[in-house]
Amino acid sequence: MVCLGNICRSPMAEGIIRDKADEKGIEIETDSAGTGDYHIGEGPDKRAVAAMKKHGHDITDLRARQFKVSDYDEFDVIYAMDASNFDNMLKLARNDDDRGKVKLILNESQPNRDMEVPDPYFGGDAGFENVYKMLDAACEVILERLK
Ligand code: 4NP
Repeated sequence: MVCLGNICRSPMAEGIIRDKADEKGIEIETDSAGTGDYHIGEGPDKRAVAAMKKHGHDITDLRARQFKVSDYDEFDVIYAMDASNFDNMLKLARNDDDRGKVKLILNESQPNRDMEVPDPYFGGDAGFENVYKMLDAACEVILERLK
């Protein structure tokens, strides 16, 4: 799960998919990262923590890190939250194998529409609730397919 800062959208996505996978008994490795380096080592934004808590998820253990090229070797699928993250991931890709791993996450729940998870950082709590709903729907589809 990749966004810009790794403190809002991608840690929410990580928290949702890891808890859903646990509930469904699906064994996958999950992680998140940011394309930027501004927040390395920080915990998730308190508004992200609150929105997740409201829905029964605890993401206070997560810490921001920056995406690294070797992540292409570690993971089978890399979900970008928006088109800017997507483009940045493609720039870091070394070959077609890497490029083939990068997807826009909302194309899972709304195929072929290239919808973006809006950056909630400069907005209010409603933005985080909106992000939660979008990511919850997308992660549900991802895991149903893996069952
Ligand atoms: P995220 O949100 O990419 O969903 O983690 C942001 C967090 C921080 C900044 C931008 C977006 N920032 O500019 O510091």
